[in-house]
Amino acid sequence: MDEIVIEGGARLKGEVRISGSKNAALPILASTILAPGTSTIYNVPDLIDIKTMGKLLNHLGAKVDIETGRVNVDVTNIKNPEAPYELVKTMRASVLVLCPLVARMGEANVSLPGGCAIGARPINLHLMGLEKMGARVEIEHGYVKVKAKRLRGSRIYLDIPTVTGTENLMMAATLADGTTIIENAACEPEVSDLAEALKKMGARIEGAGENIITIEGVDSLKPINYSVIPDRIEAGTFMVAGAITKGSIKIKDCIPGHFDAVMAKIKETGVEITEEDGGLRVKGVKSPKAVDLKTMPYPGFPTDMQAQMMALMTVAEGMSVITETIFENRFMHVAELKRMGADIKVEGNTAIVHGVPYLSGAPLMATDLRASASLIIAGLAAKGKTTLSRAYHIDRGYEKIEEKLSALGARIKRERE
Ligand code: EPU
Repeated sequence: MDEIVIEGGARLKGEVRISGSKNAALPILASTILAPGTSTIYNVPDLIDIKTMGKLLNHLGAKVDIETGRVNVDVTNIKNPEAPYELVKTMRASVLVLCPLVARMGEANVSLPGGCAIGARPINLHLMGLEKMGARVEIEHGYVKVKAKRLRGSRIYLDIPTVTGTENLMMAATLADGTTIIENAACEPEVSDLAEALKKMGARIEGAGENIITIEGVDSLKPINYSVIPDRIEAGTFMVAGAITKGSIKIKDCIPGHFDAVMAKIKETGVEITEEDGGLRVKGVKSPKAVDLKTMPYPGFPTDMQAQMMALMTVAEGMSVITETIFENRFMHVAELKRMGADIKVEGNTAIVHGVPYLSGAPLMATDLRASASLIIAGLAAKGKTTLSRAYHIDRGYEKIEEKLSALGARIKRERE
């Protein structure tokens, strides 16, 4: 297993290019199932999760060819509507093949994802939506078995604006008989990007990116060439890395409108963010001010940036109150940050962070993707050496992170444990 070794204290400077979005690429790759033939998806990041989705599509009978930045998926011969436990347990987003399989083949047999490090994460709303569309849903031996000759359009209200739930049901509705209306839908940019890809296939979708999405079912969809949006969470992560090292970096190839809430909070600390041709310049300040934040569905502050922002707050001036409202166990980074000298108290879903003058490097353990990003950010600013073991967590969602940070002047390398 690899570990990431960081010698803290270097100010980041230079430019970094943001990769394609993991959470947009995954549903778009799953959506290719809906359109017999070969689709080519561009700007796909080189990540473990993308390889897992490739393996899963392969298992279903697709031919998948992954090259740098490009994935070809030939779904002509999809014949096995089963997502096995071995793949679902390594990546929950495997559940995104559920609705495309039902829509295309009339059935799916998908292992139920268990809980994960950050929360229980049930898929009851995905299943409720499918039942409303006329599918028969049964749970047996840890698998959800869904059957429907042809799904029918329906009005579906989501109790929670679930991201992958909205994506799954939107995909199901594209080939259903009649009109589907998804109310209280997730508005994340990744949902809109999937809708754009589906529309290019010939789907009729209105309102994606808003909380009511209307989908008019069509008889068939055709394969596409499509380029995925940049990763707003990677962009936010580099911004915080620039801020915590008091650096000056340019974030290139991002869509600033996708992370307004993150930029607003970073600016509130006193850090400067300005538009510069083809990107955003982030300039750190001597003493960033503590700010409070609460995670919310889009366009609120993203839960996927909470851990990274907490790292910045550990060395900010004053007290910060951070409330996590999306997942029930997303403070796994707290114990590790405390081992670096951070002053954090957790009460329920709230963390109270008192800024300290500095963090000190320590051996740390990665527990999940965004917690790992938080610990790397903390390590960049800490005095001395930080080693982060179980680096595979970071490789699930950040393309070549140590190469990108090294190019910005960070003293960071990967070693075999
Ligand atoms: N929920 C239910 N029932 C459902 C679905 C969700 O109760 O049927 C609950 C969840 O347990 C959670 C809340 O609703 O408490 C929101 O979960 P959501 O379904 O929106 O999350 P997700 O679709 O499983 C995606 C991202 C996550 C990101 C969340 C929230 C992908 C592949 N994953 O997960 O990304 O944190 O939305 O924005 O898009 C990451 O990249 O590190 C990551 C975890």
